[in-house]
Amino acid sequence: MPYIKEFFDESTSTFSYIVYDKPHGTGAIIDPVLDYDYKSGTIQTVNADKLLEFVTKKKLTIEWILETHVHADHLSSAQYLKQKLNSNAKVAISKHIILLQKTFQKIFNLDFNTDGSDFDYLFEENEIFSIGSLSAQALFVPGHTPIDTAYKAENALFVGDSIFMPDVGTARCDFPHGNAEDLYNSIQKILSMPDDIILYMCHDYPHNRAVKYQSNIHEQKLYNIHVKDNITKEQFVSMRQTRDASLEMPALIYPSIQVNMRAGKFPQPEENSKMYLKIPLNLKFDKS
Ligand SMILES: [Fe+2]
Repeated sequence: MPYIKEFFDESTSTFSYIVYDKPHGTGAIIDPVLDYDYKSGTIQTVNADKLLEFVTKKKLTIEWILETHVHADHLSSAQYLKQKLNSNAKVAISKHIILLQKTFQKIFNLDFNTDGSDFDYLFEENEIFSIGSLSAQALFVPGHTPIDTAYKAENALFVGDSIFMPDVGTARCDFPHGNAEDLYNSIQKILSMPDDIILYMCHDYPHNRAVKYQSNIHEQKLYNIHVKDNITKEQFVSMRQTRDASLEMPALIYPSIQVNMRAGKFPQPEENSKMYLKIPLNLKFDKS
């Protein structure tokens, strides 16, 4: 059974995780957050340092830094962690990152290699890998984005942005190459897994309760407001599209995508040694 420690970033409602085989053993960090204050353009590493503190306390060797997708609501601290861990930790994501890199390179007019090589490792669909002595698997769950991946470690499934807690529902599907029908199919794949699988959320957005990071398949089938048992694919797609049309863009979408599509790497400094992020004006996402 894996050991799992959750971390919550209140400002973006994001959960990061460390999953490991044993104290003094080997682990993976999932979806680490870099603190970014939009108003001042300031970056801090408070969240990432909490992960490092835990790694030190448990004397872990971090083998993987896993991204479930190119997040649009927070910046990834993968590169900071990799540098601090001074290890061979591999920053990894779905092989379909190449599709998003090509799309966003055009949107941001940036000069970088769109072959996925900013990442250390690209997963194939259903690829089996190990985290120390834990058996793990990369399961593609497209819909929110085309590259969303749920990582399974023994009976723990880190679902990324697909399904949320039952009273919150599911992830939006209106980013480039997002697709509500794909999300429905991905969620059915998750819900068809054995009942002993424990689901670990990527976010939680509760209204009248404390945040929760864990759910299970049984309660999702019974209570998830978007995908519970008697909701058809057609009903889901129609609900999702209507709801998505009413949602604002996430506050950090432009900074996040520029950094996260390159495994957490920042743009090259300009002649004055300063780094800048771009904001495209009057952009209309092509949702195809
Ligand atoms: Fe997301």
